[in-house]
Amino acid sequence: MNITVIGPGAIGSLWASYLTEAGHSVNVWSRSFDEQIRIQRDDHDAIELANNNINQLNNADVILVTLKAPYVTQVLSTLVEHINSDTILLLMHNGMGTASDVQQMLPANPLLLATTTHGAYRPSSKQVLHTGQGKTLFGAVNESGQQCQFLVDVFNHALPTVDWHSNIEQALWNKLAINCAINPLTALYAIPNGHLGQSQYRAQLDSVIDEVCQVMQAEGIEVENSELHASVHDVIRATSDNYSSMQQDIAHQRLSEIDFITGYVVAKAAQHRIDVPSNTKLYQAIKQIEQSW
Ligand SMILES: NC(=O)c1ccc[n+]([C@@H]2O[C@H](COP(=O)([O-])OP(=O)(O)OC[C@H]3O[C@@H](n4cnc5c(N)ncnc54)[C@H](OP(=O)(O)O)[C@@H]3O)[C@@H](O)[C@H]2O)c1
Repeated sequence: MNITVIGPGAIGSLWASYLTEAGHSVNVWSRSFDEQIRIQRDDHDAIELANNNINQLNNADVILVTLKAPYVTQVLSTLVEHINSDTILLLMHNGMGTASDVQQMLPANPLLLATTTHGAYRPSSKQVLHTGQGKTLFGAVNESGQQCQFLVDVFNHALPTVDWHSNIEQALWNKLAINCAINPLTALYAIPNGHLGQSQYRAQLDSVIDEVCQVMQAEGIEVENSELHASVHDVIRATSDNYSSMQQDIAHQRLSEIDFITGYVVAKAAQHRIDVPSNTKLYQAIKQIEQSW
């Protein structure tokens, strides 16, 4: 297949490399002005991929968007006229809230959302390390996206495991809830995930989870309060030495995904007239840090 990866950072480079190895014709769309970019995954041979080639973008069977959430709408809006209406759009990022904008911009295109637990790290612009094996889920946003389940086999062949989820929103909310609990607190206090198991964070963490659970229930998402608390603590223990992506973004003064994580929950809570003071405070605290730069 002809596949364009928009935003070939850590996760995008990882997929670009595996999809190339699986025999697909992969090109990328990045911020670099070079006609070709080089990607070396772990200790494999480096590959050279065409970069910012309008013809290849126009001929893409699939566009895999691995930009961070705040850039998805902005970047796609500059490319709309070069995207064929049959091209399958696959958004893979943390957080929620970009799909409606993309659907408005490109209403005819099959639209899929993906969530992955693979770990990738880019020590330099030409190198990507596959730091953790994980699982990936795909699901459809629109009717034409429902016809694209075959993509699971294509991507699973390149980097397993990939599965289809008939209700991707449910899967994304589950991940969002965990991100809401861990990301802003670790960013605000500049701590690794494991520190959230300490008693001084307990009340704040519990209240964030309770509020998110209420919003999920109002949204019709299947969730049980005690199970959600247990899942968050499982992730805190399993990733105790890790720094969350939001902690790293804030530490490096990069725009975080707060608007698409806690911000998404706060906006949904307002629609349902649910009070979410703990999430609102965290949202405002992170926004304030970003605005102070
Ligand atoms: N890394 C992981 O292990 C992992 C795991 C699961 C989920 N995720 C999620 O996956 C998403 C991507 O994360 P990541 O770690 O891959 O981030 P990343 O390394 O920062 O990748 C994002 C890429 O988008 C590029 N970009 C930004 N603006 C652009 C523009 N205008 N045009 C073209 N490209 C542009 C960035 O370019 P520059 O290189 O020039 O900045 C960067 O290469 C996030 O939502 C993250 O939460 C990541």
